[in-house]
Amino acid sequence: MSDSPRVALATCSWLPDGSDDVVHLMKALAGLGVRAEPVVWDSGADWASYDLTVVRSTWDYPARRDAFLAWADAVPRIVNAPEVLRWNTDKRYLRDLAAAGVPVVETLWDPADVPSSWPEYVIKPAVSIGSRDTARWGPGEEERARAHLRALRSEGRAVMVQPYLSAVDTLGETALVFRDGAFSHAARKAPILTAGAGIEGPVAFDASRGQVTPSEAAPEQLAVAERALAAAPGGLLYARVDLVPGPDGAPVLIELELTEPNLYLQHAPGSAARFAESIAARL
Ligand SMILES: Nc1ncnc2c1ncn2[C@@H]1O[C@H](COP(=O)(O)OP(=O)(O)O)[C@@H](O)[C@H]1O
Ligand SMILES: [Mg+2]
Repeated sequence: MSDSPRVALATCSWLPDGSDDVVHLMKALAGLGVRAEPVVWDSGADWASYDLTVVRSTWDYPARRDAFLAWADAVPRIVNAPEVLRWNTDKRYLRDLAAAGVPVVETLWDPADVPSSWPEYVIKPAVSIGSRDTARWGPGEEERARAHLRALRSEGRAVMVQPYLSAVDTLGETALVFRDGAFSHAARKAPILTAGAGIEGPVAFDASRGQVTPSEAAPEQLAVAERALAAAPGGLLYARVDLVPGPDGAPVLIELELTEPNLYLQHAPGSAARFAESIAARL
């Protein structure tokens, strides 16, 4: 296999062996004669020695977004494309999608104070992953919520405030995974934000928090996902569309993940092989 193509699956230093997805992709790519390996994005690796770099579990970039984007610009052959990563690593891209007519969760951008019109709301930074610095607030918690808002603003971060979509507690969040623009599989993610937990998260570890299980895509969910992708840049190797039922029950977009989504491959038999085929086709 010494002259077989080489693929770097970009990961981060606290996950040097890559995520579950990376492990599954390596196996599936090996079956196609492609040598893939996890490579830490800021390790100073020789990126030109790879035929392709696929961004995967680079989950430490929010604190160093500029360095991450500069790295992506410098890698000779990388997917998703650097301009996609630039647009997608700041959740203000949701404004572009809303302007294009995609149903997006209602969002206040950089408000001066906490909202009074919603019983419960979420405060989160525009650049973040894994629910970091994100919290759910409710009645009687205005002072803590204000402190959260102020702390983010004083760090110079763009802040988003949204109504808490309570359907996430019963129906969960639906992730629709696409490869090369075509639907691959769906997963359900259990709720993550606990009432009263603040930004520190729940005191007791709860294994059901954010737990992922296989799911099905409803036609109305697929329709919203297709609209979101139609309004996004083209040429995407991977995309994950995260939806939650809105106040009227119709699905709304809470995130379009084009940078480092967990693709939940281990929950969908055959999906790693499909992604491996799409990667191999780009070599
Ligand atoms: N408006 C909201 N209503 C209900 N839950 C939310 C809302 N916004 C975020 N969450 C919860 O917080 C999690 C993380 O928020 P998200 O916007 O997906 O950012 P990221 O995954 O990049 O941290 C979501 O998976 C969901 O469980
Ligand atoms: Mg998310």
